[in-house]
Amino acid sequence: MPDRSATAIACANIAFIKYWGNRDARLRLPSNGSISMNLGGLFTRTRVTWAELRVTSNESQEQDSLVINNKPITGAGLSRVSTFLDEVRRMAGIKSRAEVVSENNFPSSAGIASSASAFAALALAASAAAGLELSQAELSRLARRGSGSACRSIPGGFVEWQAGTGDADSYAVSIAPPEHWPLADCVAVVSHAHKATGSTEGHALAATSPLQAARVADAPRRLDLCRRAILSRDFEAFAGIAELDSNLMHTVMMTSNPPLFYWQPATLTIMQAVREWRASGLPVCYTIDAGPNVHVITEAAEAERVAALLANMPGVQKVLAAQVGGAGAVQFLPSTKRVTVQACHPEGAFCATEGSQGQSEEILRRWKNTSGSE
Ligand code: PMV
Repeated sequence: MPDRSATAIACANIAFIKYWGNRDARLRLPSNGSISMNLGGLFTRTRVTWAELRVTSNESQEQDSLVINNKPITGAGLSRVSTFLDEVRRMAGIKSRAEVVSENNFPSSAGIASSASAFAALALAASAAAGLELSQAELSRLARRGSGSACRSIPGGFVEWQAGTGDADSYAVSIAPPEHWPLADCVAVVSHAHKATGSTEGHALAATSPLQAARVADAPRRLDLCRRAILSRDFEAFAGIAELDSNLMHTVMMTSNPPLFYWQPATLTIMQAVREWRASGLPVCYTIDAGPNVHVITEAAEAERVAALLANMPGVQKVLAAQVGGAGAVQFLPSTKRVTVQACHPEGAFCATEGSQGQSEEILRRWKNTSGSE
């Protein structure tokens, strides 16, 4: 096979009904379904080239290469990507080695997990470059194999990942397009530190909490309430269910063995402030992933005001904001034929860092540079 390459982009996403725990860790089949929103403007762009050189038996991991944000990656990071690429090689019936070059347009310290956008973009680029023509459901299933939440970065807007009965029906679908409800996510970054326990390890601990079974049993009810709140654009109902779900996941984390405490004092201070702001009439609610940073969801019209309020809270290092993003998309194929337009609304994000105008300008400049043509 001649060298073939493709480039794809996919947005990060934030879950309102969280995925925590797997019923099959290898296939990343979740214990419960989840609902999220894509984060427009915060994306990973990945180019995959299937090289002429074939991998020899069991050596794929040494022969694939991976560069993330201009840094060559080896060890466990490369191994996880190679295992994922083995699945693409199997599906396409090829034995070629892959060169993967990937870049996030959001800083790694932004408090936004990059594994969702990264594996969604990798699934799109690797399959397109291998000549596979996959449906959106098949792409979502493939992305799920790299990182569970990545399956939700394939479709656009507001997205639901159905837990499914097995590999074939565990994928994400769009429940509403980005324009359905102009929400924004203002991420209050309270720590730049890398999390002590990553989500893959965390999922494996979920079942050790005596509260996980109750959380999972109640998930269909929460999914239903969240879906209805989004479809009817009912912010009060949405806020109640999103905060409950986040609290439930963190309660499971804190009661697993060993316990996982992701919050810092500033995390709780912000959670309490958000509830007070909502009581006084501002449409805001919080949700927190496997880290200390607080995602504050609001209506897009209030995003600048909310970002400014957050930037002035004690312990907040910066605030990054994003609006609802579109579907992941293959951008270019080797023929240089443009396949589809940017779907992630690269202009839909801004940085509100108190007293660091230069940094915001730098981030905006990078967005402009990464959103143009290659
Ligand atoms: O996709 P993973 O394995 O990184 O897990 C994501 C877990 C959470 O971000 C905490 C919740 C979610 O549903 O995104």
